[in-house]
Formats: sequence, structure tokens, C-alpha cells
Amino acid sequence: MSQPRTVLITGAAKGIGRAVAEAFDAPGNHLLLLDLDVAELQGWVAEHSWQARVETHAADIADLPRLQAFFQDLSARIGHVDVLVNSAGICNENEPEDLDNWHRVISVNLTGTFQVTSLCLPLLASGGRIINMASILGRAGKVRNTAYCASKHGIIGMTKALALDLAPRRITVNAILPAWIDTPMLQGELAAQARIAGISQQEILRNAKKKLPMRRFIASAEVAAMVLYLASPEAGGVTAQSLMIDGGVGLGM
Ligand SMILES: NC(=O)c1ccc[n+]([C@@H]2O[C@H](COP(=O)([O-])OP(=O)(O)OC[C@H]3O[C@@H](n4cnc5c(N)ncnc54)[C@H](O)[C@@H]3O)[C@@H](O)[C@H]2O)c1
Repeated sequence: MSQPRTVLITGAAKGIGRAVAEAFDAPGNHLLLLDLDVAELQGWVAEHSWQARVETHAADIADLPRLQAFFQDLSARIGHVDVLVNSAGICNENEPEDLDNWHRVISVNLTGTFQVTSLCLPLLASGGRIINMASILGRAGKVRNTAYCASKHGIIGMTKALALDLAPRRITVNAILPAWIDTPMLQGELAAQARIAGISQQEILRNAKKKLPMRRFIASAEVAAMVLYLASPEAGGVTAQSLMIDGGVGLGM
């Protein structure tokens, strides 16, 4: 049995963050779950039967003063965090001229992720782990996605640099690069594409799966398994890495 751990997860109400919370649900663990959509988070947590001790918190990762208050309270009450999983993110499409969207996406995906990480650093135990959700769009470009691509490329750069800063404390920092994970974010994107193309959601789903080498989406639990590995004692030497989980899509046509 693994050591009990305190795990802080952002974006835990849905999708990958939710699956990560389920993966860390074990006796002795203490889960600190944060999300903007706290009603969804609390509703789901209340339905679930937990082995871990679970706390839910309303948090907008782009809101620095609220985050500072949250971490001050955490520092006074709990004192340390073993694993930080930054999963909160948004994926608004944009025209290249759209400055408002640029600021919103960068402030949540990149600055928000950095703010949480930076405020968590004094609490991170030696041997701690930071795991950031980037994207295969942290390596590639995509039309109508300048802000999202920039934010995810930024997360990969931040991961590499921070890994070097924190190596003397034996804290590892890694990025996961998912694609085509079956979550509300992906379903929302597909629904928007179906509307633009004037076809049904079933048709867009069929078309999307045809383009995927494995002909299937990836379950968020499969991403959570990668997070568990990166948080395990066996992964203590893995740092500054960007690990893809995309069913092979990112390697070619
Ligand atoms: N699903 C995919 O295929 C995919 C692909 C590449 C990257 N990602 C990345 O993985 C992460 C998780 O994606 P997902 O598919 O689970 O998305 P999701 O939309 O299903 O869930 C994201 C969660 O983050 C929360 N959130 C959004 N903005 C927030 C904010 N400002 N503060 C706090 N919480 C906030 C949402 O309320 C939601 O619960 C994101 O960073 C996303 O960019 C996902």
C-alpha cells in the first residue's frame, strides 16, 4: 500500500480532473478539490462514496487574491501538499484578431496554472510532484486556436524550467499532453464543430473517430493512470518531461 498523500487537484469537477480525483481515492489520502464550477463539484462529490478525506473549494485559478486567501488558509490548517495536479483549463476558439479571448485563455490556462503552482510551492514536501495538463497543442498549431496553443506551449516551457528549479528539493515537474480525451471539453468542441459544419453530433463523432489511428477516444481514467505513475515513487527520476497520451494522433496522419 502506498503512503497516504495530500493531493491538490484543480479542475476537479469534470473530465480529467475528476478522473484524477477518483484515481487518488484511497484510505489515508486527503484530496483538496478545486473548481470554478463548485456546484457541479459538490454535487458529484456528494454522490460518490469516498475512502479518502475530501474537501471541495470554489476557486477561479485566474483570480489571484482569492487564490492567495485559499493558500493562506491551507498553510495554516494543513501545512503541506504532496502532489499538485493542474488540470483546470478552457479551450475557447478565437479569430487571430480577438484580444479579449487571448487574455482570457492565457489568464486561465497559463497564468492561472502558474499562480496555483507558485502559491503551492512553499507547501510542497520534499519528493513532491507537480503534474500539468498541457495538450498536443503544446507542440503543434491549430487553426482558430492561437491563444489555446500559446497557453499550452507555455505550460510545457514552464514545466521544463520549474523542473530544474525544483530538482534540488527532489520535487518533479512533468506535463501530460492529452488529445481526444472523452470529457465535457471534447464533447463541447465536437458540438461546436457540428454546428459550424451543419451536421449532426453523431456524424461529427463518426468523422472524428475515423481520423484517429485507434478509432476511439481515450478515457479520462487512462490519463489519470499516467498521473498516478508520475506521482509514484517509481517515477522519482522522471522530471521536465512532456508525455503524450493521444492514441498516436500526434505522430502523423
Ligand atoms: N479533453 C481533451 O481531449 C484534452 C486535450 C488536450 C488537453 N486537455 C487539457 O486537459 C485539462 C482538462 O481538460 P478536460 O477535457 O477535463 O476539460 P473539462 O472542460 O471537461 O474540465 C475542465 C474543468 O476545469 C474547470 N475550470 C475551467 N476554468 C477554470 C478556472 N478558471 N478555475 C478553476 N477551474 C476551472 C471547469 O469548470 C471544469 O470542471 C485542460 O487543461 C485541457 O486544456 C484536454
